[in-house]
Amino acid sequence: MKGAATDDNRVRVLTLHGPNLNLLGRREPAVYGLRSLDQINTALYRLADRRQAKLRIVQSNHEGALVDALHSAVGWAHGVLVNLGAYTHTSIALRDALLALQLPVVEVHLSNIYARESFRHRSLIAPGCVGQVCGFGWQSYLLGLKALLDHLAARREDPTTT
Ligand code: DQA
Repeated sequence: MKGAATDDNRVRVLTLHGPNLNLLGRREPAVYGLRSLDQINTALYRLADRRQAKLRIVQSNHEGALVDALHSAVGWAHGVLVNLGAYTHTSIALRDALLALQLPVVEVHLSNIYARESFRHRSLIAPGCVGQVCGFGWQSYLLGLKALLDHLAARREDPTTT
């Protein structure tokens, strides 16, 4: 029988929300839905608890603060879940910071970025990610976290898994 994970052996995930995502629920609800960021975070914490994982969640509207949050994950996080908002399409600094971590990263977006304006079709971070989930509204976050936790669990069982 599997025992409860102690704090020390829990899988630890940093979740980053980028600019304007603090406005979720009020911001373009036809595109991003009616759930607030707090509601999404609560659902993420619940899922992490059920999976005996530990979550640290940061939202910032500032590129440098997001870079700092990634640096602070060194030595703590086993994986990273990110929705970098508009910085997805523009930020070489965040791409470099993610690559420097050398950790599995899953990218999520509420909207289907490929069905929108062409400037949203390119993600600068996607090539460095394990995978991407987009277009499922707030559920993209839960799907992304599940995928990341499954990926990390598989790596724990078999470290040669990519
Ligand atoms: C977004 C998509 C981005 O293009 C946009 O700038 C956002 C939100 C999404 O979750 O759908 O801020 O990342």
